[in-house]
Amino acid sequence: MFAKQSTKYSSPQSSLHSRRAIGQAAVYSASNGINELLSQATNLLKRKKITSAVLDAEVLLSYVLKKSREYLFAHPEKMANKNQVYWLKSLLKRRSRLEPIAYLTHQKEFYNLEFYVDQRVLIPRPETEILVEEILKMIPKNSKATIADIGTGSGCIAITLAKHLPKAKIIASDISKNAIAVAKRNASRYSVAKRVKFVVGNLLKPIAHPIDIIVANLPYLSQKDENKEIKFEPYQALFGRKNGLEHFENLLKQASVELNPQGKIFLEIQPAQLKSIKVIALNNFPKAEIRVIKDLSGQNRIMEISSKKNSVT
Ligand SMILES: C[S@@+](CC[C@H](N)C(=O)[O-])C[C@H]1O[C@@H](n2cnc3c(N)ncnc32)[C@H](O)[C@@H]1O
Repeated sequence: MFAKQSTKYSSPQSSLHSRRAIGQAAVYSASNGINELLSQATNLLKRKKITSAVLDAEVLLSYVLKKSREYLFAHPEKMANKNQVYWLKSLLKRRSRLEPIAYLTHQKEFYNLEFYVDQRVLIPRPETEILVEEILKMIPKNSKATIADIGTGSGCIAITLAKHLPKAKIIASDISKNAIAVAKRNASRYSVAKRVKFVVGNLLKPIAHPIDIIVANLPYLSQKDENKEIKFEPYQALFGRKNGLEHFENLLKQASVELNPQGKIFLEIQPAQLKSIKVIALNNFPKAEIRVIKDLSGQNRIMEISSKKNSVT
């Protein structure tokens, strides 16, 4: 892998100056060509049994070159410089240990926006986009609703809602100060830093306003779900006690006091938790109407709870 540079032009007798010059030339030798780097990187990842080896090699090389993936194929003969090759090597090493690509490139697309991510936050997942989609389907674009995104992480839900709902009042909470720092960075990137209020604290506790809509992708895994694919993401973002139900119990209890009587709650859930979360929801909102939305693989993934607290029926 990344075999030593060709010594074709070097000479043991060369002066320091010319050795430096030769060193520079060697960096631009054929083995640093895009084509060659791509095939070496792909082979290395394949040897490490990374199933997305081809795509990962392309993404990492285009990232270090600061070029698009299309560029790699349009210019297979172009050379990477020495720093870019070192950088690529170190990223490949991390990828070989299964670190997610998003942490290596510090970006993840969510609802057509690019979010900065690092190990302080969960990497946004495609199924979470359904939460945003359902809220946007339900309320008009000029809505002035107060929406609370609980456990905001990278801020992907709150910021996407703020972009699509210019008049809504958006509050985002997280127990992790570090996560809130990442979310604020993303909010500035999308010019909504003044429109989203970020607060640190336990679920709804730091939020003083009456809330119309609560949206939450809470940590819902239990210890038995631990696996090496998720070991790089914050434990606090993934796991909850009581078989992953702890945060649902606490949030729905707090919501029974803080949510406006005709308010709604949108939760991302693990399909196996559906029955238990329905029970918790009805314990706290006995008149609630509950709707379940499936993800693209047909699994029960989103729960919409319409409070109907003051309803007479
Ligand atoms: C599954 S992640 C979701 C992150 C982001 N909303 C997303 O969908 O990508 C859960 C988030 O909840 C936060 N969290 C965990 N316990 C919390 C609590 N008691 N109160 C508020 N936030 C909490 C974690 O720090 C983490 O950022």
